[in-house]
Amino acid sequence: MKQATLHQLRVFEAVARHSSFTRAAEELFLTQPSVSMQVKQLSKSVGMPLFEQVGKRLYLTEAGKELLGTCREVFERLAQFEMTVADLKGLKQGQLRLCVITTAKYVIPRLLGTFCQRYPGIDCSLTVTNHEGLQERLNDNQDDIYILSQPPSSPDVACHPFLENPLVVLASVNHPLASETNIPLDRLNGEPFIMREPGSGTRHAVQKLFDEHSVEVKVRLDLGSNEAIKQAIAGELGISVLSRHVLALEGWRNQLTILDVQGFPIPRHWYAIYPTGKQLSVVARTFCDYLLNEGRQIIEQTTNFKQTAFDQFPEDKSVGTPENSSV
Ligand code: PGA
Repeated sequence: MKQATLHQLRVFEAVARHSSFTRAAEELFLTQPSVSMQVKQLSKSVGMPLFEQVGKRLYLTEAGKELLGTCREVFERLAQFEMTVADLKGLKQGQLRLCVITTAKYVIPRLLGTFCQRYPGIDCSLTVTNHEGLQERLNDNQDDIYILSQPPSSPDVACHPFLENPLVVLASVNHPLASETNIPLDRLNGEPFIMREPGSGTRHAVQKLFDEHSVEVKVRLDLGSNEAIKQAIAGELGISVLSRHVLALEGWRNQLTILDVQGFPIPRHWYAIYPTGKQLSVVARTFCDYLLNEGRQIIEQTTNFKQTAFDQFPEDKSVGTPENSSV
């Protein structure tokens, strides 16, 4: 391994993560032949093949799996070292790696904007994925802080709630139920429905509620994107259940409406979590404090989150507004 370079390890890790030379090359802004060459040289240094190709798929060999674990430990230690140096310098600088579920993408970039203006020395990377993808990244210790709605029950995870993330029933403004109030849940039986993809936390929460009340919607489409679902609802393909935050900002009022269905909104919260054993850098700690202390205020000031809480429901309904809900 004396011949192996850090660059080769980074290339190898990217290929292993994507199970693809092409995607690794895209991520690293390298050519595909250059990626193949780096991996080939690394295999030579190891003295064993690191990948095997079965059909069209690329698999790690046993040696490859061992090396991947070692790579991640090395990168984590290097990242910690960088942070220690930043801490020693006493400056708010360094790297912040965030991973957030899809609903949080409607607010976290906005919060990052203010944060980065305050601390211009900080470089941020933000990965947006669904619940299952986030869980995998958490297991692989790939980021500093994770934001999700359904935290793992493990005591090894520190978990800080910071804002409500209610799930609401969305329909086209032309939907026959749009003008009704207090709609019984079983009226959704047989409704054409657009569902988030398997592995989505939203899908899991919706399915749980429907199963508990024996509601059977007619799933017309599985879609892996909140934005695509909004378009499909506006196109009158069906109704769906999504986070109220997906309505942040844009002029959705002419096209989409929140149906007043019993049992909704499904109350949920966003949590900032990280493994308790993880030594948070000063940058990650600073971001976490910022999120918990100022996050709500900035989101309320910069999106229509508060407005949608009041406009769509009478005061006495349990809409989980910032004022009346508790964590
Ligand atoms: P999802 O998660 O993107 O996996 O649906 C959203 C949520 O759990 O709020």
